[in-house]
Amino acid sequence: MSKASYVRAMFNGIAPRYDLMNAVMTLGQHQTLRRIAARLARPPRDGRALDLATGTGDFAAALRDIEPSVRVVGIDFAMEMMRLGQAKYPATNFIAGDMLQLPLNNSYFDCAVNGFVLRNVADVRGAFAEMYRVLKPGGRAVSLEITTPRAPIWKDVFGIYFDHIMPRLGGMLSGKPDAYRYLPQSVRAFYKPEQVVELMRAVGFRDVSFRWLMLGTMAVYVGLK
Ligand SMILES: C[S@@+](CC[C@H](N)C(=O)[O-])C[C@H]1O[C@@H](n2cnc3c(N)ncnc32)[C@H](O)[C@@H]1O
Repeated sequence: MSKASYVRAMFNGIAPRYDLMNAVMTLGQHQTLRRIAARLARPPRDGRALDLATGTGDFAAALRDIEPSVRVVGIDFAMEMMRLGQAKYPATNFIAGDMLQLPLNNSYFDCAVNGFVLRNVADVRGAFAEMYRVLKPGGRAVSLEITTPRAPIWKDVFGIYFDHIMPRLGGMLSGKPDAYRYLPQSVRAFYKPEQVVELMRAVGFRDVSFRWLMLGTMAVYVGLK
């Protein structure tokens, strides 16, 4: 089975418990994280924004919280996730599609964001290339992703929680233990933040930077087209 098929089936399977699990795993901080990232995207008044891998639509909604006049498109390939998102956020325009082959025009959006997805795609550079393609010149790309903290002692404490406690908790609450075993594995296998910055630069983004959030367990990346 391809990575895309595995990931799509997994998110369709955990969709009913996805929002609850996010709240539990981030100790209630997940919406704050998206709000911080949405602010960095600077959605303009009456502008157009894109949320790639929108899932249940929370990041798209965070963009509208920052700028209520912005028109937001959310795209994902897991229909069950988007079905729940549609019920929560009727103002978002949900579209089915693959973020590695966006069914969208060149140079159309003022900002493009993605949250908690990069480690799930088979081609991270390709994902950034698609974000770059659909952004207007001067448009802003923002990515939010889990990462591994580096601070001594804390990284070990976090490791015990993330590698051992969270998968059990997630498995119990969602009834899908595989999905929550996959989560820490996918984070460990993912690029370091400095490498993500390089991938963004490689597809053409300029002024690329990242900052740590939540005690170094998350990173948010920003680049300009
Ligand atoms: C962890 S969820 C994140 C959802 C949302 N961004 C959020 O902030 O909660 C990852 C989402 O990425 C979607 N996804 C993964 N790979 C994708 C791809 N190639 N194209 C479209 N969606 C994808 C999954 O279906 C899932 O809904």
